[in-house]
Amino acid sequence: MTIEVKNINKRFGDFVALNNVSLDFPAGELTALLGPSGCGKTTLLRIIAGLEHPDSGQVLLDANDASHRHVRERQVGFVFQHYALFKHMTVFENVAFGLRVKPRAERPSEDQIRRKVKELLELVQLDWLADRYPPQLSGGQRQRIALARALAVEPRVLLLDEPFGALDAKVRKELRRWLRRLHDDLHVTSIFVTHDQEEALEVADQVVLMNKGNVEQIGAPDQVYNHPASPFVYGFLGNVNMFHGRVQDGVLASGGATFQVPGQPDADGKGTAYVRPHDLDIERYTPGAEGIVVKLRRAHAIGPLAQLDLERDDTSELIEAVMSNERFSHLQLKEGETLVVRPKRLHVFVDAGASI
Ligand SMILES: Nc1ncnc2c1ncn2[C@@H]1O[C@H](COP(=O)(O)OP(=O)(O)O)[C@@H](O)[C@H]1O
Ligand SMILES: [Mg+2]
Repeated sequence: MTIEVKNINKRFGDFVALNNVSLDFPAGELTALLGPSGCGKTTLLRIIAGLEHPDSGQVLLDANDASHRHVRERQVGFVFQHYALFKHMTVFENVAFGLRVKPRAERPSEDQIRRKVKELLELVQLDWLADRYPPQLSGGQRQRIALARALAVEPRVLLLDEPFGALDAKVRKELRRWLRRLHDDLHVTSIFVTHDQEEALEVADQVVLMNKGNVEQIGAPDQVYNHPASPFVYGFLGNVNMFHGRVQDGVLASGGATFQVPGQPDADGKGTAYVRPHDLDIERYTPGAEGIVVKLRRAHAIGPLAQLDLERDDTSELIEAVMSNERFSHLQLKEGETLVVRPKRLHVFVDAGASI
């Protein structure tokens, strides 16, 4: 099923929770809604589900306006961060619940229910837990059961609101891989809400970046990571160095350093270059060398990557750089040494018309 939201606006009192949000969720794909806490992700999910009504705008399910369709008729399955499984029911009965409460005419027979639940428990690889009660399960197991329960009624859309948010880092990682494999088998149109950029980039076909009720960017994970559309997205999707300065005729001057502004030869105004820590070339300083002159303040060289804290000679601002540990040991850099850095890749956002 395709999901389309068109010009959705939602306020709580004076507070704008969603500002004219329009999005397409392609059929069979897993889309991540990514953004900081409070940016409107849950509100949008609840509107798609029919649990909340927008002030204006439309939700289209398979191109049909769903505004007057009740939650039950929208055929959506949910998994929340704290999904309350029924504590007094076994895992089996929890998964069977959605089938047992169907109107008599649609309700499967007891035999069909048993088969279906067994199938679902095998799918989430927890059939051996059928007779346990939720308090006897780990957090990760509970969320997998919650997913089996959501899938029992064969939803056409699956909405997952920070389903792994309460779990520890290692379990989260395992479950996100597991969810991706499960999605590849089932291909239910799914929306996965998270504030964790790594989780979104790893699990999703498409990532929607939200900020303060607005959509900042939509794209495949590599596209949004490598080509952020705004300073917000740059900052949100990983560590980034900023070089503030003035742009004239396509050249950014920042302190004692200058950078060519890629693709904007006529740019003029206040500008900031964004450079990821691994997109910096680093060498020992030699007189006349081009680039930004820095001192190596600290190096953390544990694991495959060496992380360097550098301090600019001209502005005293800190720069974060990353290189392979192999290269770091080869260069034999020492703390306190003078180095020169050059961005290999950068993006400059120019605030045209603004002067410093
Ligand atoms: N029922 C409500 N009444 C008042 N404010 C709300 C309500 N629901 C959400 N909000 C506010 O709307 C904003 C967006 O909330 P939410 O969609 O839950 O964000 P997210 O899921 O991205 O963290 C938050 O500032 C939140 O406080
Ligand atoms: Mg939320």
